[in-house]
Amino acid sequence: MKKITMEKMVNLCKAQGFIFQGSEIYGGLANTWDYGPLGAKLKNNIKDSWRKYFIQKNKTAYEIDADILMNPMVWEASGHTSSFSDPLVDCKHCKNRFRADNLIDDFDATAVADNMTSEDMVDFIKEKKIPCPVCGKSDFTDIREFNLMFETSRGVIKDDKSIVYLRPENAQGEYVNYLNVKRTTRSNLPFSIGQIGKAFRNEITPGNFTFRTIEFDQMEFQTFCKPGEDSKLYEFYKNYAKEYLMSLGIKEENLRYHDHEKLAHYAKAACDIEYKFPFGFGEISGTHNRTDYDLSRHQEYSGESMEFIDPETNERYIPYIIESTIGADRLTLAILFEAYDEEELENGTREVMRFSPKLAPYKVAILPLIKKMHTDKANELFEQLTEEFAVSFDASGSIGKRYRRQDVMGTPFCITVDDDTLNNGTVTIRDRDTMQQETLKVEEITNYIKEKIK
Ligand code: GAP
Repeated sequence: MKKITMEKMVNLCKAQGFIFQGSEIYGGLANTWDYGPLGAKLKNNIKDSWRKYFIQKNKTAYEIDADILMNPMVWEASGHTSSFSDPLVDCKHCKNRFRADNLIDDFDATAVADNMTSEDMVDFIKEKKIPCPVCGKSDFTDIREFNLMFETSRGVIKDDKSIVYLRPENAQGEYVNYLNVKRTTRSNLPFSIGQIGKAFRNEITPGNFTFRTIEFDQMEFQTFCKPGEDSKLYEFYKNYAKEYLMSLGIKEENLRYHDHEKLAHYAKAACDIEYKFPFGFGEISGTHNRTDYDLSRHQEYSGESMEFIDPETNERYIPYIIESTIGADRLTLAILFEAYDEEELENGTREVMRFSPKLAPYKVAILPLIKKMHTDKANELFEQLTEEFAVSFDASGSIGKRYRRQDVMGTPFCITVDDDTLNNGTVTIRDRDTMQQETLKVEEITNYIKEKIK
Protein backbone atom coordinates (compact mmCIF):
# COMPACT_ATOMS: atom_id res chain seq x y z
CA MET A 1 0.00 0.00 0.00
CA LYS A 2 1.57 3.24 -1.17
CA LYS A 3 1.12 6.38 0.91
CA ILE A 4 0.08 9.58 -0.83
CA THR A 5 0.57 13.13 0.46
CA MET A 6 -2.33 15.53 0.89
CA GLU A 7 -0.97 17.75 -1.88
CA LYS A 8 -0.79 14.87 -4.31
CA MET A 9 -4.31 13.77 -3.35
CA VAL A 10 -5.69 17.27 -4.00
CA ASN A 11 -4.05 17.21 -7.44
CA LEU A 12 -5.27 13.71 -8.25
CA CYS A 13 -8.83 14.64 -7.24
CA LYS A 14 -8.72 17.68 -9.50
CA ALA A 15 -7.12 15.84 -12.43
CA GLN A 16 -9.50 12.88 -12.33
CA GLY A 17 -12.73 14.70 -11.48
CA PHE A 18 -13.24 13.61 -7.88
CA ILE A 19 -13.13 17.06 -6.24
CA PHE A 20 -12.61 20.59 -7.62
CA GLN A 21 -12.03 23.88 -5.87
CA GLY A 22 -15.39 25.65 -5.32
CA SER A 23 -16.14 28.55 -7.74
CA GLU A 24 -12.76 27.89 -9.35
CA ILE A 25 -13.17 30.21 -12.36
CA TYR A 26 -13.56 33.16 -9.93
CA GLY A 27 -10.42 32.24 -8.01
CA GLY A 28 -12.37 30.00 -5.65
CA LEU A 29 -13.98 30.64 -2.30
CA ALA A 30 -11.72 29.53 0.53
CA ASN A 31 -12.47 26.08 1.88
CA THR A 32 -15.33 25.27 -0.42
CA TRP A 33 -15.07 22.23 -2.66
CA ASP A 34 -17.24 20.83 -5.44
CA TYR A 35 -17.53 17.12 -6.12
CA GLY A 36 -16.96 16.26 -9.78
CA PRO A 37 -18.33 13.37 -11.87
CA LEU A 38 -16.37 10.70 -9.98
CA GLY A 39 -16.51 12.35 -6.54
CA ALA A 40 -20.28 12.84 -6.61
CA LYS A 41 -20.77 9.16 -7.46
CA LEU A 42 -18.32 8.05 -4.76
CA LYS A 43 -19.94 10.21 -2.08
CA ASN A 44 -23.44 9.06 -3.10
CA ASN A 45 -22.34 5.43 -2.92
CA ILE A 46 -21.00 6.12 0.59
CA LYS A 47 -24.35 7.66 1.55
CA ASP A 48 -26.18 4.64 0.11
CA SER A 49 -23.97 2.29 2.11
CA TRP A 50 -24.76 4.26 5.29
CA ARG A 51 -28.50 4.08 4.50
CA LYS A 52 -28.27 0.35 4.08
CA TYR A 53 -26.17 -0.23 7.21
CA PHE A 54 -27.94 2.11 9.59
CA ILE A 55 -31.51 2.37 8.28
CA GLN A 56 -32.39 -0.53 6.01
CA LYS A 57 -30.88 -3.29 8.16
CA ASN A 58 -32.71 -2.05 11.24
CA LYS A 59 -36.44 -2.81 11.69
CA THR A 60 -36.98 0.20 13.94
CA ALA A 61 -34.91 2.86 12.15
CA TYR A 62 -36.51 5.55 9.99
CA GLU A 63 -34.95 8.08 7.66
CA ILE A 64 -36.25 11.63 7.45
CA ASP A 65 -35.27 14.66 5.41
CA ALA A 66 -35.73 17.79 7.52
CA ASP A 67 -35.23 21.36 6.35
CA ILE A 68 -31.90 23.11 6.87
CA LEU A 69 -33.64 26.26 8.10
CA MET A 70 -35.46 25.80 11.39
CA ASN A 71 -37.32 27.99 13.85
CA PRO A 72 -34.59 29.98 15.72
CA MET A 73 -36.07 28.74 19.01
CA VAL A 74 -34.64 25.30 18.13
CA TRP A 75 -31.12 26.72 18.53
CA GLU A 76 -32.01 28.51 21.77
CA ALA A 77 -33.35 25.24 23.17
CA SER A 78 -30.45 23.13 21.90
CA GLY A 79 -27.95 25.50 23.52
CA HIS A 80 -26.22 26.35 20.24
CA THR A 81 -26.85 30.11 20.42
CA SER A 82 -25.16 30.30 23.83
CA SER A 83 -22.61 27.46 23.80
CA PHE A 84 -21.62 26.53 20.27
CA SER A 85 -18.48 28.60 20.08
CA ASP A 86 -14.72 28.41 19.73
CA PRO A 87 -12.22 30.46 21.78
CA LEU A 88 -10.84 33.06 19.39
CA VAL A 89 -7.75 35.27 19.72
CA ASP A 90 -6.39 37.85 17.30
CA CYS A 91 -2.71 38.57 16.83
CA LYS A 92 -2.46 42.31 17.64
CA HIS A 93 0.50 42.60 15.31
CA CYS A 94 -0.55 40.91 12.03
CA LYS A 95 -4.33 40.75 12.78
CA ASN A 96 -4.62 37.06 11.95
CA ARG A 97 -7.18 35.02 13.90
CA PHE A 98 -6.59 31.73 15.68
CA ARG A 99 -8.31 29.30 17.96
CA ALA A 100 -6.61 29.63 21.35
CA ASP A 101 -6.88 25.88 21.98
CA ASN A 102 -5.17 25.11 18.65
CA LEU A 103 -2.33 27.55 19.41
CA ILE A 104 -1.72 25.77 22.72
CA ASP A 105 -2.01 22.21 21.36
CA ASP A 106 0.28 22.97 18.42
CA PHE A 107 2.83 24.57 20.76
CA ASP A 108 2.81 21.83 23.41
CA ALA A 109 1.05 18.57 22.64
CA THR A 110 1.11 17.60 26.34
CA ALA A 111 -0.78 20.75 27.45
CA VAL A 112 -4.34 19.53 26.50
CA ALA A 113 -6.18 22.82 25.97
CA ASP A 114 -9.42 20.83 26.00
CA ASN A 115 -9.23 20.73 29.79
CA MET A 116 -8.50 24.48 30.28
CA THR A 117 -10.85 27.36 30.97
CA SER A 118 -10.60 30.55 28.89
CA GLU A 119 -8.57 32.23 31.67
CA ASP A 120 -6.20 29.24 31.85
CA MET A 121 -5.65 29.44 28.09
CA VAL A 122 -4.88 33.19 28.15
CA ASP A 123 -2.44 32.69 31.04
CA PHE A 124 -0.76 29.76 29.32
CA ILE A 125 -0.29 31.67 26.05
CA LYS A 126 1.23 34.65 27.90
CA GLU A 127 3.39 32.60 30.24
CA LYS A 128 4.87 30.45 27.46
CA LYS A 129 5.06 33.42 25.07
CA ILE A 130 3.48 31.30 22.35
CA PRO A 131 4.38 32.92 19.01
CA CYS A 132 1.88 33.85 16.29
CA PRO A 133 2.17 31.13 13.59
CA VAL A 134 2.09 33.86 10.90
CA CYS A 135 4.32 36.73 12.13
CA GLY A 136 6.15 35.15 15.07
CA LYS A 137 5.27 37.92 17.61
CA SER A 138 3.58 36.94 20.87
CA ASP A 139 0.95 39.61 21.44
CA PHE A 140 -2.62 38.32 21.37
CA THR A 141 -5.97 39.78 22.37
CA ASP A 142 -8.00 38.20 25.16
CA ILE A 143 -10.24 35.32 24.20
CA ARG A 144 -13.60 36.05 22.60
CA GLU A 145 -16.10 33.28 22.24
CA PHE A 146 -16.90 33.07 18.54
CA ASN A 147 -20.25 31.45 17.69
CA LEU A 148 -19.90 29.02 14.81
CA MET A 149 -23.45 29.25 13.48
CA PHE A 150 -24.01 30.88 10.11
CA GLU A 151 -26.66 33.54 10.32
CA THR A 152 -28.86 34.59 7.49
CA SER A 153 -32.07 36.58 7.33
CA ARG A 154 -35.41 35.89 5.73
CA GLY A 155 -37.86 38.34 4.27
CA VAL A 156 -37.19 41.75 2.80
CA ILE A 157 -36.26 43.70 5.92
CA LYS A 158 -33.11 42.65 7.74
CA ASP A 159 -33.91 43.06 11.42
CA ASP A 160 -33.50 40.89 14.50
CA LYS A 161 -36.85 39.19 14.04
CA SER A 162 -35.91 37.77 10.66
CA ILE A 163 -32.64 36.07 11.64
CA VAL A 164 -32.46 32.38 10.85
CA TYR A 165 -29.52 30.02 11.11
CA LEU A 166 -28.12 27.46 8.70
CA ARG A 167 -28.20 24.34 10.86
CA PRO A 168 -24.84 23.52 12.48
CA GLU A 169 -25.87 19.87 13.00
CA ASN A 170 -28.56 17.64 11.50
CA ALA A 171 -29.49 16.15 14.84
CA GLN A 172 -32.00 18.82 15.81
CA GLY A 173 -34.11 17.97 12.75
CA GLU A 174 -34.45 14.47 14.17
CA TYR A 175 -35.24 15.71 17.69
CA VAL A 176 -37.99 18.12 16.69
CA ASN A 177 -39.58 15.30 14.66
CA TYR A 178 -39.33 12.75 17.47
CA LEU A 179 -43.05 12.97 18.27
CA ASN A 180 -44.09 12.89 14.60
CA VAL A 181 -42.01 9.82 13.81
CA LYS A 182 -43.02 7.99 16.99
CA ARG A 183 -46.71 8.62 16.20
CA THR A 184 -46.68 7.77 12.50
CA THR A 185 -44.54 4.64 12.88
CA ARG A 186 -46.34 3.59 16.11
CA SER A 187 -42.92 3.04 17.66
CA ASN A 188 -42.04 1.79 21.05
CA LEU A 189 -38.59 2.44 22.56
CA PRO A 190 -35.90 2.01 21.48
CA PHE A 191 -36.25 3.32 17.94
CA SER A 192 -34.02 5.42 15.73
CA ILE A 193 -34.26 8.37 13.36
CA GLY A 194 -31.53 9.11 10.87
CA GLN A 195 -30.89 11.60 8.13
CA ILE A 196 -28.26 12.69 5.68
CA GLY A 197 -27.88 16.35 4.91
CA LYS A 198 -25.89 19.54 4.91
CA ALA A 199 -24.61 21.29 8.01
CA PHE A 200 -22.80 24.63 8.15
CA ARG A 201 -20.20 26.03 10.54
CA ASN A 202 -18.28 29.27 10.41
CA GLU A 203 -15.03 27.49 11.27
CA ILE A 204 -12.20 29.81 12.30
CA THR A 205 -9.47 27.56 10.99
CA PRO A 206 -10.81 25.42 8.18
CA GLY A 207 -8.34 23.38 6.15
CA ASN A 208 -6.80 20.07 5.19
CA PHE A 209 -8.79 19.89 1.94
CA THR A 210 -12.33 18.60 2.67
CA PHE A 211 -11.51 17.61 6.25
CA ARG A 212 -12.61 20.89 7.84
CA THR A 213 -14.90 22.99 5.70
CA ILE A 214 -17.67 25.47 6.33
CA GLU A 215 -20.36 23.43 4.54
CA PHE A 216 -20.45 19.65 4.84
CA ASP A 217 -22.70 16.60 4.82
CA GLN A 218 -23.49 14.71 7.99
CA MET A 219 -24.98 11.23 8.27
CA GLU A 220 -26.59 11.28 11.70
CA PHE A 221 -28.49 8.59 13.55
CA GLN A 222 -30.33 9.09 16.85
CA THR A 223 -31.54 6.20 18.98
CA PHE A 224 -34.24 7.10 21.51
CA CYS A 225 -34.16 4.78 24.52
CA LYS A 226 -35.25 4.25 28.09
CA PRO A 227 -32.93 5.88 30.64
CA GLY A 228 -30.77 3.13 32.08
CA GLU A 229 -30.45 1.42 28.70
CA ASP A 230 -28.30 4.24 27.35
CA SER A 231 -24.84 3.03 28.37
CA LYS A 232 -25.31 -0.37 26.71
CA LEU A 233 -26.54 1.27 23.49
CA TYR A 234 -23.67 3.76 23.60
CA GLU A 235 -21.15 0.89 23.61
CA PHE A 236 -23.14 -0.89 20.89
CA TYR A 237 -23.05 2.11 18.53
CA LYS A 238 -19.35 2.82 19.17
CA ASN A 239 -18.72 -0.66 17.92
CA TYR A 240 -21.33 -0.55 15.13
CA ALA A 241 -19.82 2.61 13.64
CA LYS A 242 -16.35 1.06 13.56
CA GLU A 243 -17.70 -2.10 11.94
CA TYR A 244 -19.46 0.03 9.34
CA LEU A 245 -16.22 1.87 8.48
CA MET A 246 -14.38 -1.43 8.18
CA SER A 247 -17.15 -2.84 5.96
CA LEU A 248 -16.17 -0.12 3.48
CA GLY A 249 -12.65 -1.48 3.27
CA ILE A 250 -10.94 0.76 5.85
CA LYS A 251 -8.25 -1.22 7.65
CA GLU A 252 -8.52 -1.44 11.42
CA GLU A 253 -4.92 -0.29 11.86
CA ASN A 254 -5.89 3.07 10.30
CA LEU A 255 -8.71 3.66 12.81
CA ARG A 256 -8.65 4.48 16.50
CA TYR A 257 -11.12 5.45 19.21
CA HIS A 258 -10.69 8.74 21.05
CA ASP A 259 -12.73 9.16 24.22
CA HIS A 260 -13.52 12.81 25.01
CA GLU A 261 -12.57 14.29 28.36
CA LYS A 262 -14.08 17.70 27.69
CA LEU A 263 -17.66 17.15 26.53
CA ALA A 264 -19.96 19.18 24.29
CA HIS A 265 -22.68 21.02 26.20
CA TYR A 266 -25.18 18.21 25.56
CA ALA A 267 -23.15 15.06 26.22
CA LYS A 268 -22.58 12.67 29.12
CA ALA A 269 -20.08 10.56 27.16
CA ALA A 270 -18.52 10.97 23.74
CA CYS A 271 -16.10 8.93 21.68
CA ASP A 272 -14.71 9.73 18.24
CA ILE A 273 -13.42 7.33 15.66
CA GLU A 274 -10.36 8.82 14.03
CA TYR A 275 -8.74 7.93 10.72
CA LYS A 276 -5.01 8.10 10.04
CA PHE A 277 -4.79 10.93 7.49
CA PRO A 278 -1.38 12.15 6.22
CA PHE A 279 -1.63 15.09 8.68
CA GLY A 280 -2.27 12.73 11.62
CA PHE A 281 -5.34 11.07 13.14
CA GLY A 282 -8.53 13.08 12.55
CA GLU A 283 -12.14 12.51 13.64
CA ILE A 284 -14.51 11.04 11.05
CA SER A 285 -17.26 9.75 13.32
CA GLY A 286 -18.63 10.31 16.82
CA THR A 287 -20.83 8.42 19.25
CA HIS A 288 -22.50 10.60 21.88
CA ASN A 289 -24.66 9.88 24.90
CA ARG A 290 -26.82 13.03 24.81
CA THR A 291 -28.97 11.88 27.75
CA ASP A 292 -32.41 13.52 27.94
CA TYR A 293 -30.80 16.94 27.45
CA ASP A 294 -32.17 17.69 23.98
CA LEU A 295 -35.73 16.44 24.42
CA SER A 296 -36.00 18.06 27.89
CA ARG A 297 -34.91 21.38 26.47
CA HIS A 298 -37.36 21.10 23.54
CA GLN A 299 -40.13 20.28 26.00
CA GLU A 300 -39.21 23.34 28.06
CA TYR A 301 -38.92 25.73 25.10
CA SER A 302 -41.81 24.45 22.97
CA GLY A 303 -44.27 23.52 25.71
CA GLU A 304 -44.89 20.15 23.96
CA SER A 305 -44.57 17.10 26.18
CA MET A 306 -41.73 14.82 25.12
CA GLU A 307 -42.58 12.21 27.72
CA PHE A 308 -42.83 8.59 26.74
CA ILE A 309 -45.44 6.49 28.54
CA ASP A 310 -44.30 2.92 28.91
CA PRO A 311 -47.22 0.81 27.59
CA GLU A 312 -46.55 -2.00 30.08
CA THR A 313 -45.68 -0.19 33.31
CA ASN A 314 -47.27 3.21 32.66
CA GLU A 315 -43.96 4.74 33.72
CA ARG A 316 -43.36 8.22 32.28
CA TYR A 317 -39.97 9.51 31.27
CA ILE A 318 -38.15 11.61 28.70
CA PRO A 319 -36.12 9.27 26.48
CA TYR A 320 -32.33 9.35 26.39
CA ILE A 321 -30.62 9.72 23.04
CA ILE A 322 -27.58 7.88 21.75
CA GLU A 323 -26.21 9.62 18.68
CA SER A 324 -24.02 8.11 16.00
CA THR A 325 -22.72 10.70 13.55
CA ILE A 326 -20.42 10.44 10.55
CA GLY A 327 -19.16 13.24 8.33
CA ALA A 328 -19.79 12.16 4.72
CA ASP A 329 -17.03 14.42 3.38
CA ARG A 330 -14.45 13.26 5.91
CA LEU A 331 -15.39 9.66 5.25
CA THR A 332 -15.08 10.23 1.48
CA LEU A 333 -11.62 11.70 2.04
CA ALA A 334 -10.62 8.74 4.21
CA ILE A 335 -11.89 6.33 1.53
CA LEU A 336 -9.82 8.17 -1.13
CA PHE A 337 -6.65 7.84 0.97
CA GLU A 338 -7.41 4.25 1.86
CA ALA A 339 -7.97 3.30 -1.78
CA TYR A 340 -4.89 4.93 -3.30
CA ASP A 341 -2.14 2.63 -4.47
CA GLU A 342 0.82 2.75 -6.79
CA GLU A 343 2.28 -0.34 -8.41
CA GLU A 344 5.53 -0.67 -10.30
CA LEU A 345 4.98 -2.62 -13.53
CA GLU A 346 7.45 -3.52 -16.29
CA ASN A 347 6.12 -0.71 -18.46
CA GLY A 348 5.87 2.00 -15.79
CA THR A 349 3.93 2.93 -12.67
CA ARG A 350 0.25 2.15 -12.35
CA GLU A 351 -1.86 4.38 -10.10
CA VAL A 352 -4.96 2.56 -8.90
CA MET A 353 -7.83 3.44 -6.59
CA ARG A 354 -8.69 0.17 -4.88
CA PHE A 355 -12.21 1.15 -3.82
CA SER A 356 -14.43 -1.54 -2.44
CA PRO A 357 -16.55 -2.42 -5.53
CA LYS A 358 -19.75 -1.25 -3.80
CA LEU A 359 -18.24 2.26 -3.43
CA ALA A 360 -16.50 2.50 -6.81
CA PRO A 361 -17.96 5.36 -8.91
CA TYR A 362 -18.33 3.02 -11.90
CA LYS A 363 -18.68 -0.72 -11.44
CA VAL A 364 -17.64 -1.59 -14.96
CA ALA A 365 -16.16 0.01 -18.07
CA ILE A 366 -17.01 -1.01 -21.62
CA LEU A 367 -14.13 -0.71 -24.07
CA PRO A 368 -14.83 -1.40 -27.78
CA LEU A 369 -11.48 -2.68 -29.10
CA ILE A 370 -11.76 -0.99 -32.51
CA LYS A 371 -14.07 1.98 -32.57
CA LYS A 372 -15.43 1.53 -36.10
CA MET A 373 -16.03 -2.20 -35.78
CA HIS A 374 -17.10 -2.80 -32.20
CA THR A 375 -18.98 0.31 -31.07
CA ASP A 376 -22.48 -0.88 -32.05
CA LYS A 377 -22.13 -4.08 -30.05
CA ALA A 378 -20.54 -2.13 -27.16
CA ASN A 379 -23.51 0.29 -27.17
CA GLU A 380 -25.88 -2.67 -26.96
CA LEU A 381 -23.98 -3.96 -23.95
CA PHE A 382 -23.99 -0.49 -22.39
CA GLU A 383 -27.80 -0.38 -22.66
CA GLN A 384 -28.02 -3.78 -21.04
CA LEU A 385 -25.64 -3.15 -18.13
CA THR A 386 -26.82 0.35 -17.24
CA GLU A 387 -30.12 -1.23 -16.17
CA GLU A 388 -28.15 -2.51 -13.17
CA PHE A 389 -24.92 -0.56 -12.72
CA ALA A 390 -23.10 2.71 -13.31
CA VAL A 391 -21.11 1.98 -16.47
CA SER A 392 -18.24 3.94 -17.98
CA PHE A 393 -17.77 3.88 -21.76
CA ASP A 394 -14.36 4.56 -23.28
CA ALA A 395 -13.60 4.13 -26.95
CA SER A 396 -10.44 6.20 -27.36
CA GLY A 397 -6.75 5.32 -27.11
CA SER A 398 -4.97 2.01 -26.81
CA ILE A 399 -6.50 -0.66 -24.59
CA GLY A 400 -3.52 -0.34 -22.22
CA LYS A 401 -4.14 3.40 -21.78
CA ARG A 402 -7.84 2.80 -21.24
CA TYR A 403 -7.10 0.24 -18.52
CA ARG A 404 -4.82 2.76 -16.75
CA ARG A 405 -7.53 5.43 -16.94
CA GLN A 406 -10.10 3.08 -15.39
CA ASP A 407 -7.59 1.97 -12.71
CA VAL A 408 -7.18 5.48 -11.37
CA MET A 409 -10.95 6.01 -11.52
CA GLY A 410 -11.22 2.86 -9.39
CA THR A 411 -13.42 0.88 -11.83
CA PRO A 412 -13.28 -2.75 -10.64
CA PHE A 413 -13.99 -4.37 -14.05
CA CYS A 414 -13.21 -3.57 -17.69
CA ILE A 415 -14.97 -5.37 -20.50
CA THR A 416 -13.37 -5.48 -23.93
CA VAL A 417 -15.74 -5.90 -26.86
CA ASP A 418 -13.91 -7.43 -29.84
CA ASP A 419 -14.43 -9.80 -32.82
CA ASP A 420 -15.16 -12.68 -30.47
CA THR A 421 -18.11 -10.73 -29.11
CA LEU A 422 -19.50 -10.32 -32.65
CA ASN A 423 -18.78 -13.90 -33.69
CA ASN A 424 -19.57 -15.99 -30.63
CA GLY A 425 -20.99 -13.63 -28.00
CA THR A 426 -18.06 -13.61 -25.53
CA VAL A 427 -16.16 -10.73 -23.91
CA THR A 428 -12.92 -10.39 -21.98
CA ILE A 429 -13.39 -9.07 -18.46
CA ARG A 430 -10.37 -7.68 -16.61
CA ASP A 431 -10.10 -7.37 -12.84
CA ARG A 432 -8.71 -4.02 -11.60
CA ASP A 433 -6.79 -5.46 -8.66
CA THR A 434 -5.28 -8.63 -10.11
CA MET A 435 -5.19 -7.44 -13.73
CA GLN A 436 -6.23 -11.02 -14.62
CA GLN A 437 -8.57 -11.50 -17.57
CA GLU A 438 -11.40 -13.97 -17.99
CA THR A 439 -13.66 -14.83 -20.90
CA LEU A 440 -17.39 -14.64 -20.25
CA LYS A 441 -20.57 -15.02 -22.26
CA VAL A 442 -22.42 -11.72 -22.64
CA GLU A 443 -25.43 -13.09 -20.78
CA GLU A 444 -23.23 -14.05 -17.79
CA ILE A 445 -21.83 -10.54 -17.20
CA THR A 446 -24.62 -9.08 -15.03
CA ASN A 447 -24.61 -11.93 -12.52
CA TYR A 448 -20.81 -12.08 -12.50
CA ILE A 449 -20.54 -8.40 -11.52
CA LYS A 450 -23.46 -8.57 -9.08
CA GLU A 451 -21.77 -11.44 -7.27
CA LYS A 452 -18.43 -9.56 -7.08
CA ILE A 453 -19.85 -6.28 -5.78
CA LYS A 454 -22.13 -7.80 -3.13
N1 GAP B 1 -24.67 16.09 15.94
C1 GAP B 1 -23.41 15.95 16.54
C2 GAP B 1 -22.36 16.66 15.85
O1 GAP B 1 -22.61 17.50 15.00
P1 GAP B 1 -19.75 16.84 15.61
O2 GAP B 1 -18.68 15.94 16.16
O3 GAP B 1 -19.65 18.28 15.84
O4 GAP B 1 -21.12 16.25 16.21
C3 GAP B 1 -20.22 15.30 13.55
O5 GAP B 1 -19.90 16.57 14.05
C4 GAP B 1 -19.34 14.91 12.37
O6 GAP B 1 -19.43 15.92 11.36
C5 GAP B 1 -17.85 14.82 12.71
O7 GAP B 1 -17.51 13.54 13.20
C6 GAP B 1 -17.20 15.12 11.38
O8 GAP B 1 -17.08 13.92 10.63
C7 GAP B 1 -18.20 16.04 10.68
N2 GAP B 1 -17.73 17.44 10.76
C8 GAP B 1 -17.81 18.27 11.82
N3 GAP B 1 -17.31 19.49 11.52
C9 GAP B 1 -16.89 19.43 10.23
C10 GAP B 1 -16.29 20.37 9.33
N4 GAP B 1 -16.04 21.62 9.68
N5 GAP B 1 -15.99 19.96 8.07
C11 GAP B 1 -16.27 18.69 7.67
N6 GAP B 1 -16.85 17.77 8.47
C12 GAP B 1 -17.16 18.13 9.74
